[in-house]
Amino acid sequence: MNVATPLIGKCCVVTGGTGGIGLVTTRRLVEMGADVIVVGRDTGRCLAAKLAIQQTTGRDGVEFLQADLAELDAVRSVAETISKRWDHIDILVNNAGGMFGKRQTNSQGLEMTFALNHLGYFLLTALLLPKLNAAPERSRIVNVASEAHRRVKLDFDDLQSEKSYRGWLAYCRSKLANLLFTQELARRLDPQRVTVNALHPGFVATDIGVRHSLMPAFAWWLAKFAAISPEQGAATSVYLASSPEVADAHGLYFRKCKPVKPSPAALDSEAAQRLWDVSVRLTGMT
Ligand SMILES: NC(=O)c1ccc[n+]([C@@H]2O[C@H](COP(=O)([O-])OP(=O)(O)OC[C@H]3O[C@@H](n4cnc5c(N)ncnc54)[C@H](OP(=O)(O)O)[C@@H]3O)[C@@H](O)[C@H]2O)c1
Repeated sequence: MNVATPLIGKCCVVTGGTGGIGLVTTRRLVEMGADVIVVGRDTGRCLAAKLAIQQTTGRDGVEFLQADLAELDAVRSVAETISKRWDHIDILVNNAGGMFGKRQTNSQGLEMTFALNHLGYFLLTALLLPKLNAAPERSRIVNVASEAHRRVKLDFDDLQSEKSYRGWLAYCRSKLANLLFTQELARRLDPQRVTVNALHPGFVATDIGVRHSLMPAFAWWLAKFAAISPEQGAATSVYLASSPEVADAHGLYFRKCKPVKPSPAALDSEAAQRLWDVSVRLTGMT
């Protein structure tokens, strides 16, 4: 197989690379020559994914670090490990995400969907920014969001869904948070040094719907017939992470490798700033 290797020498970080879209994203980046650090939650799944990637790519370009990204201390600890071992990062793909059928909280008492899908992205990015800024060439941040963001607005009076919880709505709000975070981060970054963009991968046949019992397994199995493959689902993540065509793209939202307009709620700069301030407070970042 003759695979182009435009990412030789590039150092990437991908979260949630043990399954679904993240696993394919990681494999494609490794195939293109990158060295990829994957942050995964489960050691066994990390080992299995590493073996599978080695076997299919014939390369040893992937290293797994274990961390539960719904736990802010674990995010801090893995960011510290990455920062000690690598002098720069060229590409960060924030991909790890989940849906939770019942309201759950992390050890800090933060609602799990918000903690994993939004604060995990926010804190890991903030902690790795010095390493992204240290890249010899312009580095990239890619945030995996979703079209699900179009269905909701953020309720700043109940960001933790304490008053009422519905798993799907909490998920939609967390994906809106991904877009507001992308917008506010884009405003704060120097795009000549670091760019940030978000994307919708499509409706992809992964296990996200059943992993945390949002949907009955049979319903999810049926729904998956309408879905695209994880290979197709990873295409826009890989495009934003690697293509020269989007070297200048910044603060945009992509679907099927094309920029599209997100919902009006995702373009609300006041909400973006407010979410940023709340996230700073909750994570203790300055
Ligand atoms: N599938 C879709 O149709 C779809 C549509 C729109 C957007 N998305 C987005 O795409 C991204 C990837 O989703 P997917 O469909 O590929 O889901 P998936 O197959 O369930 O994979 C999710 C990945 O995230 C990891 N993860 C989950 N919770 C974690 C935690 N607490 N700490 C660290 N890693 C954790 C999982 O690790 P484990 O292997 O340990 O569980 C897995 O590697 C998500 O951000 C999702 O919101 C998906």
